[in-house]
Amino acid sequence: MVLTLYPPALRGIVTGLTVLMLLSIIIYLIQQYKPVDSIITWHSGGENTIQPLFYIPPLGLGTWQIPKSKTASVVKFALQKGYRHIDAALIYGNEKQVGEGIAASGVPRSSLWVTGKLWNNAHHPSAVRPALEQTLKDLGLDYLDLYLMHWPVAFEAGSIYDVVIDRHSDLLETWTAMESLVREGLVRQIGISNFNREQAEQILHHAKIPPTAHEFECHPYLQQTDFVRWNLEHGMRVIAFSPLGNMNPIYNSSHTPLLQDEFLLSFAERKGLTVAQLALAWGMHRGVVVIPKSEHTDRVAENFEAQYVQLTADDMKTLNGVDEKARFNNPSEEWDVQLYSGLDGV
Ligand SMILES: NC(=O)c1ccc[n+]([C@@H]2O[C@H](COP(=O)([O-])OP(=O)(O)OC[C@H]3O[C@@H](n4cnc5c(N)ncnc54)[C@H](OP(=O)(O)O)[C@@H]3O)[C@@H](O)[C@H]2O)c1
Repeated sequence: MVLTLYPPALRGIVTGLTVLMLLSIIIYLIQQYKPVDSIITWHSGGENTIQPLFYIPPLGLGTWQIPKSKTASVVKFALQKGYRHIDAALIYGNEKQVGEGIAASGVPRSSLWVTGKLWNNAHHPSAVRPALEQTLKDLGLDYLDLYLMHWPVAFEAGSIYDVVIDRHSDLLETWTAMESLVREGLVRQIGISNFNREQAEQILHHAKIPPTAHEFECHPYLQQTDFVRWNLEHGMRVIAFSPLGNMNPIYNSSHTPLLQDEFLLSFAERKGLTVAQLALAWGMHRGVVVIPKSEHTDRVAENFEAQYVQLTADDMKTLNGVDEKARFNNPSEEWDVQLYSGLDGV
């Protein structure tokens, strides 16, 4: 026995130390044990996995339809006001001016979240990198925080304004090309926009680098509660576009404008808010990122305040009750493709 080598006085100490060491090892092993359902697994496609959600600043500035002449000053104003998230896209035609606004704001690049989007005419794998390079050049940036596949629809290569559907294109091949952009350090995260559940599932099952965000229409009139939950459960942060419902004039909607809804007006007034602030706060309280667009600095500032609004569980319940499953952005007919199958408002 090794202990017999020690003088009797030391034997007790050595035994004690050995027992202490064994106890420490047992405690360490117990601490390392984790029940199976708490282990984070990526893109396994299983229903019982917990996916971590990526942090995205919860309120961003939408830039679609801000006229070029105003874009740089609105973006600069927003960033100096405290916005840290800009939602841009090549098809909006104002990325150069967005970049000028970012540069003029003086906000360090590392404090910003900038989203860009791959337009439908650049789905071919060989077109993906050049499209991103154009966006980076226009924005004056050397990387994007998030690059989205703008639509699950491919157009033939050509002008961004031509709509000729490419029915042979494969979303998965486009996704693989987008994954290369992450590996090259040109984009930090990749995601999808305007997908339905089946299309998103295809990407999730195929992806080596899974989508961390899904941008789609979401507001009090089109709440998509089940779909929002499904996306969050599958590791995709939801970014709500048109968070003010049918306020975008292009929607040419016959529906009451959300900001003039009588019920919402009196509700907002009771809370000392505007309806825009109420709608945006409701979105953020659901864990959804909102990206309202305004080309007016007073509204950009008004929308920013929505981050500080406190809504109670009862307020949320009341607002959840105004869902009308009313979708305002659906180019299915115009493009002769079926979008949003299986989702609300179709
Ligand atoms: N991924 C996609 O396919 C997709 C599709 C649509 C939109 N988006 C993104 O989402 C962003 C937001 O969506 P959106 O532009 O369709 O709609 P929105 O932000 O819900 O609404 C914009 C409209 O609301 C007005 N508005 C903004 N704040 C207001 C306020 N506080 N009071 C009164 N009116 C206010 C704006 O007018 P003024 O500008 O005149 O103030 C504008 O007409 C877009 O800019 C774009 O970045 C993405």
